[in-house]
Amino acid sequence: ATTLGAAAAEKGRYFGAAVAAAKLSDSQYVGILDREFNSVTPENEMKWDATEPSQGRFTYTNADRIVSHAQARGMKIRGHALLWHAQQPGWAQSMSGSALRSAMVNHVTQVATYYRGRIHSWDVVNEAFADGGSGARRDSNLQRTGNDWIEVAFRTARAADPNAKLCYNDYNTDSVNPKSTAIYHMVRDFKARGVPIDCVGFQSHLGTSLPGDYQANLQRFADLGVDVQITELDITQGSNQAAMYGAVTRACLAVARCTGITVWGVRDSDSWRGTDNALLIDRSGNRKPAYQAVLDAL
Ligand code: XIL
Repeated sequence: ATTLGAAAAEKGRYFGAAVAAAKLSDSQYVGILDREFNSVTPENEMKWDATEPSQGRFTYTNADRIVSHAQARGMKIRGHALLWHAQQPGWAQSMSGSALRSAMVNHVTQVATYYRGRIHSWDVVNEAFADGGSGARRDSNLQRTGNDWIEVAFRTARAADPNAKLCYNDYNTDSVNPKSTAIYHMVRDFKARGVPIDCVGFQSHLGTSLPGDYQANLQRFADLGVDVQITELDITQGSNQAAMYGAVTRACLAVARCTGITVWGVRDSDSWRGTDNALLIDRSGNRKPAYQAVLDAL
């Protein structure tokens, strides 16, 4: 195959990109998106501040632009993200306790119900664990409503959209480390107690080296009985970029339950990582060595 999406499909995987609704009027951007990718993740448009800007008033206009574009072309859609400590609307940021818990449950129910049947995988909870060696939950207004907020979120999402794969998604989880191990223990506990979780997303915002246990770490999660997905891949441009992209792709293919890879943008100029030039397509719209490394690995 000669495109990322088609090559991944031959391996039973998807290859996706984060998409910004505002760029769907850029013909170069759309040309690359439609040629290369068979999955999309709205980069910001499904976040809490975008979908519920004032409490109880839901707005899906920008998210729907991406969903319509994808559906018309047979692309899968990853939903991102129902609950996160960041990009909350101001009204939620200032809430706490049982009022926030109710608002949180309502938000999950409303958004997951609105998109029921159209989302392949939902990031139900994003970035709920702390960095560093503690293995603790991240402090946030959501965490302060009670340690059970994550399982409540997953049960609520399952009730609203029974056929979507429900994922926990995080970063700095690319090796066996205290943070990834804390998440591993949560997933193991959820599986043991019947809390509905189907997948773990590894954002994989990477620098200039790939942990040697990257594949083994994916595999240990898969061995718990969940799918794994690379959900926000980008890698600092440097001497290693192409090799690292190839290695990440091979790691996913080597794990039977690694179901797909998403890069966090289309061109370097679309990336949230500014001057890192962390993506597969350059600022002129041309395929980079990193692109060829991925295609060769698929
Ligand atoms: C980023 C977007 O790319 C930016 O446009 C936005 O300003 C901030 O959020 N982890 C995530 C993503 O889960 O939602 C973030 O996306 C990048 C880090």
